Amino acid sequence: DGNIPHIFVTLGASGDLAKKKIYPTLWWLFRDNLLPSNTIFFGYARSKLSIEKLRANCDPWMKVKPDEKQRYEEFWKLNYYVDGTYDTRRDFEILNQEMEKHEKGPTANRLFYLALPPPVFNPVTVNIKNTCMCTKGWTRVIIEKPFGRDAESSKALSDHLASLFKEDQIYRIDHYLGKEMVQNLITLRFGNRIFNPTWNRDNIASVLISFKEPFGTQGRGGYFDEFGIIRDVMQNHLLQILCLVAMEKPASIHPDDIRYEKVKVLKCVDPLKLENCVLGQYVGDPEGEGDAKLGYLEDKTVPKDSVTPTYALSVMKIKNERWDGVPFILRCGKALNERKAEVRIQFKDVPGDIFHGKPKRNELVMRVQPGEAVYVKLMTKSPGMSFDMEETELDLSYHSRYHDVKMPDAYERLLLDVFCGMQMHFVSSDELSEAWRIFTPLLHQIEREKVRPIMYKYGSRGPKEADVMSSANDFKYYGSYKWVQPK
Ligand code: BG6
Repeated sequence: DGNIPHIFVTLGASGDLAKKKIYPTLWWLFRDNLLPSNTIFFGYARSKLSIEKLRANCDPWMKVKPDEKQRYEEFWKLNYYVDGTYDTRRDFEILNQEMEKHEKGPTANRLFYLALPPPVFNPVTVNIKNTCMCTKGWTRVIIEKPFGRDAESSKALSDHLASLFKEDQIYRIDHYLGKEMVQNLITLRFGNRIFNPTWNRDNIASVLISFKEPFGTQGRGGYFDEFGIIRDVMQNHLLQILCLVAMEKPASIHPDDIRYEKVKVLKCVDPLKLENCVLGQYVGDPEGEGDAKLGYLEDKTVPKDSVTPTYALSVMKIKNERWDGVPFILRCGKALNERKAEVRIQFKDVPGDIFHGKPKRNELVMRVQPGEAVYVKLMTKSPGMSFDMEETELDLSYHSRYHDVKMPDAYERLLLDVFCGMQMHFVSSDELSEAWRIFTPLLHQIEREKVRPIMYKYGSRGPKEADVMSSANDFKYYGSYKWVQPK
């Protein structure tokens, strides 16, 4: 890398996201020698902080092993901190001057990560543009959701950013795009002959994309109540997965080609209707332990009459030649019975069955977490003397197949991609605007009519109505089979 200076600036360095995610990620990338050799780190926030104090804030999240102590010292020696407000140009000029002291050579690059609440997005980006753009190399800006809260506010943000930066300078994080199995979708689909010819309405009955978490708002109720599960998880994480499952084969693996196909498939989805959704909100389980006793409305930071959904199931249809009529069921919820994120492609029943109705449907399952796995559920002759049949699986479980591979955290991959200028796993403004087109009418209706969510118990599978809607949409749940963790 020619020893070119790279400066990574964390704006909002004293905040929660910075200490829990960003500094730890930077440290792990540094520890593993993945960053350009001459990278330094700047923190910026309103509080007057010393590096010692910043370091103390981050320490609990950094997971430093005993033999890494020295490396850890080296990491902090490369850290700087500047305090200033978010809306004063002068403060950013000072930040710029401090950075320039480290950029004596002919080339230098800068990355800005906005770990900031939405109200200061605008002034901060204006100040970056006016005072902190790198004059000797590239400048890239990383932002995180919320990207607005509906089509209109998101467009305002996109327009604002577009007035300051080019699209190839803007990195919108959807951290699900940094997960192994989500990244694997393109490889599995387009790097194998076996799946693609059956990947269509002739063979696939339904697709279930699901996200479950076994805990509630955990004190984040204030933030959550403003957004709800649809904005928090479905409109971004699950819809991104839908794109990767459903899109046509891109012309190449160039990020532009991939993002183009994702936009194209979204354009074939009509805005969601309330009648195709089940909304839920959790109530406490009197028999549960600790937090499980508390319902969503008992979170002190949540308004007592909130109708914000903590669970949602939506059925989407993609109106193109490949998918016409195939239900894509998106399901997400908090305070459920387990932690699991997976994609389940359910194939149609075998036509002309000669086994008296015994065959169950094939499923291709991509488990995102916990424990990455890809497995195909299929029928096999019951082993041994009989000629009966039973369900089993062809299983690629990562923990047994790839013992020694270290799975990087989603943020490690994504931040490194920004250094490399790789936008494949980031959300383009076109995708974002299509995503909001699909969800905005529904979200507005829920808010306008204060649509009552169905109550479900903390730790349960969610509202029964959701199971009814999935089975009405050609997703068969047999309950006869459980995937067994291999030894
Ligand atoms: C975030 C949501 O985007 O994703 C959280 O805001 C959610 O509510 C989280 O808990 C889940 O991420 P992960 O990586 O733990 O599955």
